[in-house]
Amino acid sequence: MTSPVRLALLGCGTVGGEVVRLLHEQSADLAARIGAPLEIAGIAVRRLGRDRGDLPVDPALFTTDALGLIKRDDVDVVVEVVGGIEPARGWLVEALRAGKSVVTANKALLAEDGAALHDATAEGGGDLYYEAAVAGAIPLLRPLRESLHGDRINRVTGIVNGTTNFILSAMDATGAGFAEALEEATELGYAEADPTADVEGFDAAAKAAILASLAFHTRVGAADVHREGITEVTAADVASAKAMGCTIKLLCIAARGADATGRETVSVRVHPAMIPLAHPLASVGDAYNAVFVEAEAAGPLMFYGRGAGGAPTASAVLGDVVAVSRNRLAGVRAASESAYADLPVRPMGEALTRYHISLDVADRPGVLAAVAGVFARHDVSIATVRQGPAGGGAAGRGEDADLVIVTHVAPDAALAATVRELRGLDIVRSVASVLRVEGGL
Ligand code: NDP
Ligand code: HSE
Repeated sequence: MTSPVRLALLGCGTVGGEVVRLLHEQSADLAARIGAPLEIAGIAVRRLGRDRGDLPVDPALFTTDALGLIKRDDVDVVVEVVGGIEPARGWLVEALRAGKSVVTANKALLAEDGAALHDATAEGGGDLYYEAAVAGAIPLLRPLRESLHGDRINRVTGIVNGTTNFILSAMDATGAGFAEALEEATELGYAEADPTADVEGFDAAAKAAILASLAFHTRVGAADVHREGITEVTAADVASAKAMGCTIKLLCIAARGADATGRETVSVRVHPAMIPLAHPLASVGDAYNAVFVEAEAAGPLMFYGRGAGGAPTASAVLGDVVAVSRNRLAGVRAASESAYADLPVRPMGEALTRYHISLDVADRPGVLAAVAGVFARHDVSIATVRQGPAGGGAAGRGEDADLVIVTHVAPDAALAATVRELRGLDIVRSVASVLRVEGGL
């Protein structure tokens, strides 16, 4: 058999540990698929003394000198499962410039400075693969960057964060508030001790940037993504969604559009939204991920599966390791980054969205007209209005009414300005809930 393909593994935590385990358990099959055995040249970690359980690997392979490991002449492929921006960026740029191939799960780095990695790949002539960076085990990036390259993608809508999907699903199922559902997610090991990256939408925004870059052949970074998390979603919002036959999901949405001059643009956003129960993403529960891709010729496509966890993520990492190893043996490389379209990214205010607004208003003549007037002033068209006694009961509280308004699509800035003006009206006692609506209603 051909001489082995030698791997430098950077990181041996949740994902890296499973990469080691799978490399060991499947070594014969992997060698047969690649045409050469895979060998671990070294494993860079932060703490040499950490207890790594019964990991099937020679302890002598561990080092804290990641850069020294990367620079070794006998390393062909660098697998990075450490995470974070630095030192990972420096390591990977060094490896790629030296012509090594890189497999990484590091969505934060790809979204923050994917350009540095792609430029270094072009310079060195190796491969850069990162299937595990978005939606864990789900084969999604390869279809976007290969299978769908003959088509035109118009829109990508996804649930790409398992932790927040678990929390929102729990709120929907039990009526719990955000804090209570987060506590449950933490107890069950879904949410990390510091859940900020997940619940504030940073993790999903990084993934949205990667998806948009691939779908629209345009460099999109984390800073281009409008981001809102789920910390403000209340039990009342969830109940409101239920009353409309909807559920609330944290969505990443990347869509083509056009600016006022007709020039093609893209918009990329992450925020909670109401979706009808009939929408394909509504039934994605627990910590699962799913991504709905709408392509011109292929039509709608749905990708579903586990978006996190050691073994599922390691599966995607190993798929990439097989691909880059085969390429090296064949003396070829994958197609380079495709960013030729270079479309401008539209600000959130210009994105076309729909709002569901629930108001507690004074129940007297002229109120509906006054409320409708605010929408008209901002050129926002109302799709449906539902009025009932405040408090939802048959009698209600007598003097107030609940008013639920769903709009047609309008620029997000116009919708936000409408809500601001409504909040200032005397007749509006409170704005009980404001949610964007996706997927028809
Ligand atoms: P962990 O925190 O479990 O593991 C990180 C590893 O990196 C540890 O082995 C740690 O060493 C090592 N490390 C940290 N800093 C350094 C350093 N300065 N030098 C050398 N080694 C270092 O992370 P995960 O395995 O969960 O995640 C890894 C990557 O995979 C991240 O980019 C993450 O976003 C991504 N990812 C993770 C998923 C998941 O479900 N966990 C899903 C999809 C992607 P030590 O062991 O000594 O502490
Ligand atoms: N924290 C992420 C999630 C892990 O909850 O989906 C996968 O990227």
